Amino acid sequence: MTTALCPGSFDPPTNGHVDVINRVVSAFDRVVVSVLDNPSKNSMFSVDERVGMINEIHGDDVEVIVFSGLLVDHAREVGADVVVKGLRTVDDYEYENQMAQMNRHLTGMETVFMPTHPEYGFISSSLVKEVARLGGSMNGLVPDVVESALKERLS
Ligand code: PNS
Repeated sequence: MTTALCPGSFDPPTNGHVDVINRVVSAFDRVVVSVLDNPSKNSMFSVDERVGMINEIHGDDVEVIVFSGLLVDHAREVGADVVVKGLRTVDDYEYENQMAQMNRHLTGMETVFMPTHPEYGFISSSLVKEVARLGGSMNGLVPDVVESALKERLS
């Protein structure tokens, strides 16, 4: 059985995250989605809220876990064979490739890159939050559960 680990902040999950996770679910036997608990980051949603949203979106297709500390230590704890990251742009590649090489250096953990569907290539959690704060439409950007959570948080 091959286990893939999809780590991230998911503050909040976007349609880009959902698309990548769905494709990872199709490609691997077991998928763990790990939400980074980083108290020094000024997040809009608590880790529990983010875990709840991902569970609501993906149901039994994935296991959702909170982690802190080094990703490679967490990956070993959950029995992950590979880390999977979505790639949107060349900037993403530069950043993600550096992290992938560091992670391989640390424990040998391999990273697989999944190109984002072009329809979602411009979407990021930070832009979604900015657009939502300024009253823009969330149509096509986030799942319904996230749109409702954004509305509630910003009302
Ligand atoms: O969604 P994000 O914010 O781009 O996710 C980044 C994340 C959580 C995958 C990355 O920050 C991470 O792996 N953090 C854990 C700390 C760690 O292992 N740092 C060394 C990475 S080489």
